[in-house]
Amino acid sequence: MTEDKKFVSPEELARQKVFSGRILRENSAAAADSGTVRRYWVDCYGCQQNEADAEVLRGQLREMGYAPAGCAEDADVVLINTCAVREHAESRELGNIGALVHVKRRRPGMVIGVCGCMTQQAHMAEKLKKSFPYVDLVFGTHALWRLPELLWHALHDGRRVFDTENADGRIAEGLPVERRDRERAGVSIMYGCNNFCTYCIVPYVRGRERSRDPEQILAEVRGLVADGCRDITLLGQNVNSYGSDRPDGIRFPELLRRIDSIDGDFIVRFMTSHPKDASHELFDTIAESRHLARSIHLPVQCGSDRILRLMNRRYTVAQYVSLIDYARERIPGLVVTSDIIVGFPGETEEDFEGTLDLVRRVRYDSLFTFLYSPRTGTPAAGMPDPATHEEKQARFDRLLALQNRISQEIHDGYVGRTLELRLDGESRAAGYPFSARTSGGRLVHVRAPEDAAGKVVRVTIERASTYALFGSADGEEKV
Ligand code: 5AD
Ligand code: SF4
Repeated sequence: MTEDKKFVSPEELARQKVFSGRILRENSAAAADSGTVRRYWVDCYGCQQNEADAEVLRGQLREMGYAPAGCAEDADVVLINTCAVREHAESRELGNIGALVHVKRRRPGMVIGVCGCMTQQAHMAEKLKKSFPYVDLVFGTHALWRLPELLWHALHDGRRVFDTENADGRIAEGLPVERRDRERAGVSIMYGCNNFCTYCIVPYVRGRERSRDPEQILAEVRGLVADGCRDITLLGQNVNSYGSDRPDGIRFPELLRRIDSIDGDFIVRFMTSHPKDASHELFDTIAESRHLARSIHLPVQCGSDRILRLMNRRYTVAQYVSLIDYARERIPGLVVTSDIIVGFPGETEEDFEGTLDLVRRVRYDSLFTFLYSPRTGTPAAGMPDPATHEEKQARFDRLLALQNRISQEIHDGYVGRTLELRLDGESRAAGYPFSARTSGGRLVHVRAPEDAAGKVVRVTIERASTYALFGSADGEEKV
């Protein structure tokens, strides 16, 4: 794709502002006439990239004069931003879209819209058209920036609006964003994926890899830091290949170094990294940085070379392990997490034993484990898959038990240690009003005086569970 074709043009963005302005005028007039403020509700499923898209949807709706609603029932516009990565997510989403039929019956004038990855699949767009007649607006990930125009038509044309054109996707800069959290933020640095892992729907629904201009990213990060944001996650399906589509030759480690040169009190994380593109330079950059978290999420997916080949992952178990060894040597205390799929088509007991061996060898701090879910249109969905669901579930449970034991052992090693933590969250654990994250991203529930909110305090860890640490700020009575 040539450079100019990768971006939505200023003229196209200006056209959206015209529609946005029209809706704003209508909403302001309604408020002036009858005192009713029109409201929106955005529901979001799936990954952090999808959450970042939802912040753009909310930002656009706010610019059109909508105020946030407390729930879908009180909203004039409801948008469901969907995920398609596993069947479980899709079934939940369809269930929740189904429940909106009652809301629409009570408020026929409202607009119900479905967007995101699920709608970008032709068979799902068809299903929404046929089985959910009260859904007024359906648009895919590539049409996010066109929300004002699509909503205008849904409000005024008296017909349902569908825009799920399958395109490579483009970058739209400068869209309004409604951030939910002042202290934590996600910043998309690239969109799409070119890897075509054989199980994965993402390359089909989010298009080809396209990297944002580094200056735009730096300006966004500087703005966030100036606004008091302390925890920034750089987002992309495959951040390690950032820049490979850009003419200026910039690569991910260089982008990280430029971000790291920004002064201020903040931590930078990134996800997701593909092991085939994670270079020694990346880990050297983390080791030498001021702001980069000492953590890496490096999805391995499985511990069998045979299955890795069938998955089209393009690395071997040995290459992966040597990468982790290098990273740990360069960055003492590095927190390592991963994704693993259990039950890929044709996985044998021997393949699965390879996964267990790998997990024992790497000793992840935590793992995201998934049962393989066939996705229509992906190569893996057509591969022979003789194992039963029960067999796969039994393997899944064994993997979980192993990881829980390892997480607990690693957490137990923290007991008695004192860490400096910023108390930037609320905890639901009884007796621990605050929560915090270690620089590696580990959750800590903290007892501290009320006025310690937002401050950096010394916390002594007194006990640990599989999922979290528990501690008291210095001077607080231990439980
Ligand atoms: N089935 C199960 N898990 C999947 N993932 C992606 N596609 C599938 C699928 N079809 C998992 C991978 C990926 C994570 C985001 O979701 O582990 O890293
Ligand atoms: Fe899916 Fe693989 Fe791309 Fe990740 S790298 S989004 S698993 S195709």
